[in-house]
Amino acid sequence: MTRKILVTSALPYANGAIHLGHLVEYIQTDIWVRFQKMRGHECHYVCADDTHGTPIMLRAEKEGIAPEDLIARVHKEHTRDFAGFLVAFDNYYSTHSDETRFYSEDIYKKLHAAGLIEVRSIEQFYDPKKQMFLPDRFIKGECPKCGAKDQYGDSCEVCGAAYAPTELKNPYSAVSGATPELKSSDHYFFKLSDPRCQAFLRQWTQGGERLQSEASNKLQEWLGHPGENKLTDWDISRDAPYFGFEIPGAPGKYFYVWLDAPIGYMGSFKNLCARTGMNFDDWWGKDSAAELYHFIGKDILYFHALFWPAELEHAGYRTPTKVFAHGFLTVDGAKMSKSRGTFITAASYLNEGLNPEWLRYYYAAKLNGTLEDIDLSLADFVARVNSDLVGKYINIASRCAGFLTKFFDGTLAFADAKPLADGAVASGQLVAESFEARDFSRALRDIMAIADRTNGEIAVAAPWTLAKDETQRAALHDICSRALHGFYVLSILLRPVLPALTARVARELFGLERDFAWSDLAALPTRVNAYRHLMQRVEAQQIDALVAANKESLAPAADAHSPQRHAEHQQQAEAKMQQKSEWENFISIDDFAKVDLRIARIANAEHVDGAAKLLKLTLDLGGETRTVFAGIKSAYDPATLVGRLTVMVANLAPRKMKFGMSEGMVLAASDAEGKTAGLFLLSPDSGAAPGMQVK
Ligand code: 2FM
Ligand code: ZN
Repeated sequence: MTRKILVTSALPYANGAIHLGHLVEYIQTDIWVRFQKMRGHECHYVCADDTHGTPIMLRAEKEGIAPEDLIARVHKEHTRDFAGFLVAFDNYYSTHSDETRFYSEDIYKKLHAAGLIEVRSIEQFYDPKKQMFLPDRFIKGECPKCGAKDQYGDSCEVCGAAYAPTELKNPYSAVSGATPELKSSDHYFFKLSDPRCQAFLRQWTQGGERLQSEASNKLQEWLGHPGENKLTDWDISRDAPYFGFEIPGAPGKYFYVWLDAPIGYMGSFKNLCARTGMNFDDWWGKDSAAELYHFIGKDILYFHALFWPAELEHAGYRTPTKVFAHGFLTVDGAKMSKSRGTFITAASYLNEGLNPEWLRYYYAAKLNGTLEDIDLSLADFVARVNSDLVGKYINIASRCAGFLTKFFDGTLAFADAKPLADGAVASGQLVAESFEARDFSRALRDIMAIADRTNGEIAVAAPWTLAKDETQRAALHDICSRALHGFYVLSILLRPVLPALTARVARELFGLERDFAWSDLAALPTRVNAYRHLMQRVEAQQIDALVAANKESLAPAADAHSPQRHAEHQQQAEAKMQQKSEWENFISIDDFAKVDLRIARIANAEHVDGAAKLLKLTLDLGGETRTVFAGIKSAYDPATLVGRLTVMVANLAPRKMKFGMSEGMVLAASDAEGKTAGLFLLSPDSGAAPGMQVK
């Protein structure tokens, strides 16, 4: 059955460069969209620049240009960067468009008619010199907690405290330097606290199908227990001067980001409809049979899982089928940093001559469809691209294709074709399930297992040896044909991740006049053309140059992106803060992988003279011996420990203790104090042996 699928990625702000953090989302979405298209579904991928807001207005003013000129320039830059990373939108539009204005007004009017808009007076900081209300990020002052100077109005970068701008000491406007004054003004609110929104959202999220489990839990927390009403109304207006759409019937009031940014998804799609003749209502109408998916960062889950569906529902439109949130990017285990050169822009990556498909592959290998953060470890990036893509995948063709063209005129011959085609189709099924579930990491593991098997067969048959012996032509033809079939299958399965490379493979090597389709798995290639070099290895020096280039580009203007995100989202700072800190309690799988847990045999255990709590353990790690002082004397008689197996942390830095050096740690369960319930040393199931890794 052909599915109708509409996909979006979050709209990036139109005043900053696209960086590798953004690309986690766009590459992820693009891979999924390409997969759906390859499977023959009708799939459209739309996005746009998010062009409105105070920061964009002020930045244009600073540059001495009109906001329209700024957003036009940035649109070009963003379009160029996305194309450079092979992110193939069906439409990349702008929220500053007639279509988005139309749907913003339409939705607002319908919500208003439904009694879901309310006007309330609120007090905010006002810059008397600049004559404008100030978003929190444009107010600075001394941190009310630690006294650090020049901190933003929402949180302190020195001590991490979060507060309201009114709590800052000696506040000043970051725009004009003037002392801000508190001033009242009317704001428009969307009544998310209305019982209709409550009831709708509870029903909408029932069954947990619409969100990933982590996101679904978060949402239930935001909604509260049945009967509770924890949702608060949403401020959807900003006062002039503002760059955006004026609210109908409210002169001087403008729609704030959440009443035009997600509506930009509709605006962009409407614009695509005008170009292609599609019917907008088939996709966005209340009874639409199409599927609608939003890929977003976890920081904007609140807006996409609560505000957005409630807004659509009560304005008479369809709601999203699912919202897919992802985690943030870290580089070498830390937040991207300009001073370390790890705040890497998309443009610099391409300018340094790095291959965009390397990054697509690396991200895909890390993405598993959850909200976990993903780490770009630069050393691992080099190692993985070289070992998987060049060493395992490309190597198959580069080692075997030449023999086929040299000795067999490029023809492939299979002794038993059916099992090969059946095997490819079965592998395709497995990999398709992972792609569909956005578990790209599992898809690539299964794909690389095929590469490993093919390389294993090549190594056993050793075509380079067979080629030297004329009597072995049939054997040579057989292994090279099977190897190239493996390469063909791998190329089909990798197409969503490596669209440019596999397009060359399809056309140049296998002589197709089109790109691969998923259904090609059922066929066997019949011939190959002469092999031409397909992919370079990454050199560590290229990464060094990339980091250096991003260290050099410390222009202050480049700073605009990340603070803006905060500036624009002040309303919900508190909710988000809470959300972030809870997520910060999780560690990533990469963090966990840093702990080297091993099975150890307690070769000896003895009391330590003068130590009240410690036993001295000699641990056998399967050849290597470690001494560990463990605080388990209260629970164990050393004699009963000798010979038993336990689990130890083998890569804990050695610690000098009063009684000697402790070279690790054994694991034991206890209650919080380690007293009342006692201590319980961990033991593995039988069969485990000293030195085995615990994962
Ligand atoms: O958070 C952001 O990056 C905003 N530009 C909103 C993006 S999502 C959407 F709704 F447009
Ligand atoms: Zn502080």
